[in-house]
Amino acid sequence: MTDSRSDGFPRSCVITGANTGIGRHVALALAKSGTRLVMAGRDPDRTAPVVREAHRLAGQEAVDFVQLDLASLASVRRAAARILALRPTIDLLINNAAVAGGRGLTKDGFELHFGVNHLGHFLLTSLLLDRIRESAPARIVTVASAAHTKTSGMDFDAVRRRTATFTGTREYAVSKLANILFSDELGRRLEGTGVTTYAVHPGTVATDIWRRIPSPIRWLVTRGMLSVEEGAAPVLHYATSPEVAGLTRVYSHRMEVREPSEPARDRELAEELWRRSEVWVGEA
Ligand SMILES: NC(=O)c1ccc[n+]([C@@H]2O[C@H](COP(=O)([O-])OP(=O)(O)OC[C@H]3O[C@@H](n4cnc5c(N)ncnc54)[C@H](OP(=O)(O)O)[C@@H]3O)[C@@H](O)[C@H]2O)c1
Repeated sequence: MTDSRSDGFPRSCVITGANTGIGRHVALALAKSGTRLVMAGRDPDRTAPVVREAHRLAGQEAVDFVQLDLASLASVRRAAARILALRPTIDLLINNAAVAGGRGLTKDGFELHFGVNHLGHFLLTSLLLDRIRESAPARIVTVASAAHTKTSGMDFDAVRRRTATFTGTREYAVSKLANILFSDELGRRLEGTGVTTYAVHPGTVATDIWRRIPSPIRWLVTRGMLSVEEGAAPVLHYATSPEVAGLTRVYSHRMEVREPSEPARDRELAEELWRRSEVWVGEA
């Protein structure tokens, strides 16, 4: 076991989707604090400016980019192997990346939102879990959403089919319900290990997540939203604050610990999602 730093900041963090939005802000704040970082993202060119900025803040040695496409389980496996080779310690994993509003299937035949937002992170977390356990005290933060309340449950057949709705809103909600069920079940399985879990709704934030809305309308829709900095604050809080170190299986609505929706508190559903996810990613 490693001791956590007295200021609460982790020593070594892996974060997904750090090239933009909330992930970018969180990654740079961690780099500034001296945390070693792996930024796992799908596009090296789009991530390069953030990596450069993080190098400036934390030093060349402290920050690495690893190519990760969460829509491909083979890519997740390659990324996890690379991360394990790079980092002997991982005491913070932030499952941040997400797609919202696209349509289609992942490379492995899962509904796009479910495959990227839940299943890719499920596999990544599973492959890094022994290292995270060895690095305890450690935290796993999954960026969830209040949008999970927009679904009354999970249809395990629908997640094997192409996005059915035109906007993808329903499928996004299902994937965010999956994030909360996963985080809770993970925390339950990790009880007593010193690894704690947090599913965090960051608020409604003006990020690239709204990129599929045509630009003049996007400006109108996003101008009343929280800033990226404001959206990153709860993620950083649950990732680093000593105040929440003793909590686990948390769902938070921004800073505030809350009960998520009834389906998100359904233990049998969480266990079923876990069992099915293990089979789907080939880790059963
Ligand atoms: N913004 C909000 O209002 C809001 C509200 C509630 C929850 N959230 C949650 O906050 C988190 C961060 O979202 P954001 O608002 O910062 O959105 P964002 O600016 O769109 O960032 C999303 C990130 O996910 C990455 N990503 C998407 N598909 C990927 C894939 N297949 N493989 C790897 N990375 C992928 C994106 O990379 P590319 O740039 O390469 O696409 C980007 O880095 C998400 O989990 C989201 O659900 C956001």
